[in-house]
Amino acid sequence: SDNITFQNTMPFPIGVGINMGILKRDSKYRAIVVKEYNSISAETAMKMKSLRPSATTYSWSEADNLVKFAEENNKRVYGHALIWGNSLPDWVKNFKGGYPEWKEMFKAHITEVVKHFKGKVVAWDVINEAFADNGDLKNTIWRQKLGPNYIDMAFIFAHRADPSAILFINDYGMEYGNNKRRGLVKYVEGMIQRGIPIGGIATQFHSRVNLEDAKFSRALNEIAATGLKVHISEMEISLNPGSIKSLLLSSLLERQQAAKYEYIVRSYNALPKKQQFGITLWNVTDNDSWVLNYYNRPDWPLPFDGNYQKKPAYQGILNGV
Ligand code: XIL
Repeated sequence: SDNITFQNTMPFPIGVGINMGILKRDSKYRAIVVKEYNSISAETAMKMKSLRPSATTYSWSEADNLVKFAEENNKRVYGHALIWGNSLPDWVKNFKGGYPEWKEMFKAHITEVVKHFKGKVVAWDVINEAFADNGDLKNTIWRQKLGPNYIDMAFIFAHRADPSAILFINDYGMEYGNNKRRGLVKYVEGMIQRGIPIGGIATQFHSRVNLEDAKFSRALNEIAATGLKVHISEMEISLNPGSIKSLLLSSLLERQQAAKYEYIVRSYNALPKKQQFGITLWNVTDNDSWVLNYYNRPDWPLPFDGNYQKKPAYQGILNGV
């Protein structure tokens, strides 16, 4: 029936990463977001490139529209993302100055953004994609200019700006090899020992249908062993990881996808209740998934098809709880 929706069924918040341009012009897209999800993340509107046209200016309108949409429709807002080595405006890449100037700029960005959304954004990806595949810190511009301590600093500044916000570290590839995930988990354990106000680990799960089930549960369980909250923050399950240009969608692939989603949701639901921050899908339909443009391939990674219809993956997600 019509009452069976994600948000009415899932025992934890269920979210989606949204594109503000599409939300504005496409009423069917909007209807799915309103009906199915109770948490939203901004696909791009809260990234530094969107919020910071110049070193001295902030451009809030798109992100404010997202918050307004969330308030009108009773959605939780998850903040994505404060500090990332990508999606940087050119003025940051060309920023002059030594450690003190960089630190001041970094602190100002975190402080102004978190304060602006205080009481509206309940949790933040404070640090996005900071780890390399071998488990070491990536040598991002922030690390180059501020040293490895930049992660601790970012959490401290964000916490000062909004002590109630739950602060996450977010990364991808947590379900592939062990090295990256274990490097991140070890780093986070160090943060906890140092008294850094980290509240959770977010695992993106931009993933694919041909990855073994056990890899997902192992990733979730090892992350949860820190005792922190766990957010599956950007999930989609690609059907065409090999980027085959001529691949056609088959019902077999759709069933495999549904089973993969079901397994992941079931593994997540088995974590301790108080650690379940929620699961967020990255985009709404197979038409607007970032994967198609970014990897330039046909793909069908989401629970709704390009005609806004529920796929077997939709039922798979429901079956996981
Ligand atoms: C992606 C967006 O979906 C794209 O529209 C944009 O071009 C690039 O970024 N990990 C993240 C997200 O943390 O911010 C990325 O989002 C996907 C990978």
